Amino acid sequence: MRVLGIETSCDETAAAVVDGDGRVLSHAVLSQIADHRPFGGIVPEVAARSHLHHLDSLIRRALDGASTGVAGLSAIAATAGPGLIGGVLVGVMTAKAMAAAAKLPFIAVNHLEGHALTARFTDGVAFPYLLLLVSGGHCQILAVEGVRRYRRYGTTLDDAAGEAFDKVAKLLGLGFPGGPAIERAAKAGQDRFKFTRPMKGKPGCDFSFSGLKTAVRQAAEALPPGPLADRDVADLAASFQAALVDSLVDRVGRAAEKFTADYPAGRALVVAGGVAANQALRTALSGVAAGAGLTFAAPPPALCTDNAVMIAWAGLERLRLGLTDPLDFKARPRWPLDPTAAPAIGAGVKA
Ligand code: KG4
Ligand code: ZN
Repeated sequence: MRVLGIETSCDETAAAVVDGDGRVLSHAVLSQIADHRPFGGIVPEVAARSHLHHLDSLIRRALDGASTGVAGLSAIAATAGPGLIGGVLVGVMTAKAMAAAAKLPFIAVNHLEGHALTARFTDGVAFPYLLLLVSGGHCQILAVEGVRRYRRYGTTLDDAAGEAFDKVAKLLGLGFPGGPAIERAAKAGQDRFKFTRPMKGKPGCDFSFSGLKTAVRQAAEALPPGPLADRDVADLAASFQAALVDSLVDRVGRAAEKFTADYPAGRALVVAGGVAANQALRTALSGVAAGAGLTFAAPPPALCTDNAVMIAWAGLERLRLGLTDPLDFKARPRWPLDPTAAPAIGAGVKA
């Protein structure tokens, strides 16, 4: 089996081919970061145009890299949501056209499921497992029972974790994307500001980060006027990161208690999504897992941020279960993993 995966839901255009044993035969990725940097964030229209411009040649590269043509594929999978709809449509229309022309099955992949299932091929994690999904548009804790079977334990009431990193980085003049910039700056700093850990000790497993972002702004404004000194930027970044990580640790700790009671056979804590590339978070979560008697799995950073390997893999998992989709499947700007969970106030739409 060989599946082509296509990812166009945010600011990475990517195509990959994965085989039935979970081997990555090829992966072609083009980051649009340089296109968006002048705007300090992702501009949906710019993203959609860039996906349209580059996707065909990336698919060609992925097929060549896997030494296969379209005829050598078993199915074509594309992110069909959630995400910036202009970009999602580019990927979905391309995948449908290829599937129709080559008479191959089309698989509409939920981008979040791509992140959620990544640890199954990187670390061979078995269902059920506890998942912290932390990206630019989402922050959720879920019990993953199987393909398309998720139970949400908690979600963000306002910003996603990655969004908080990006906004704080902007405020500190560290540029875009904020996560890696904050992580770098934090290495030279200390937790001098001791911000309140959001939601720590509160019942449930929900998150909230907008108050922390405000606290960072107020602390920066309370410093002597003029440009921030390097030491202050480093300490603000380190203090923000420490508070955010502690908050996640508290929430995941509570979810782990629930998960080990709900699923006595569950063995792993998995972290996925762009923010899972953060080393301080990975180290802290491995401690939570050890404390709860769970193993810990975190995909390599390049497979935490958006990529097409995870879409090809999710397609493969679905193909094995016979879960293919009709060619009139409609792309979805919003597509929750657990449709029974109540929508959270102000939760983001991108993934
Ligand atoms: O999953 P992803 O690549 O894209 C979507 O949101 O769909 O996640 C991107 C987010 C951005 O907010 C970025 O700042 C954050 O992940 N991120 C990080 C790190 N690398 C990326 N956050 C913290 N530390 C990092 N090293
Ligand atoms: Zn993502």
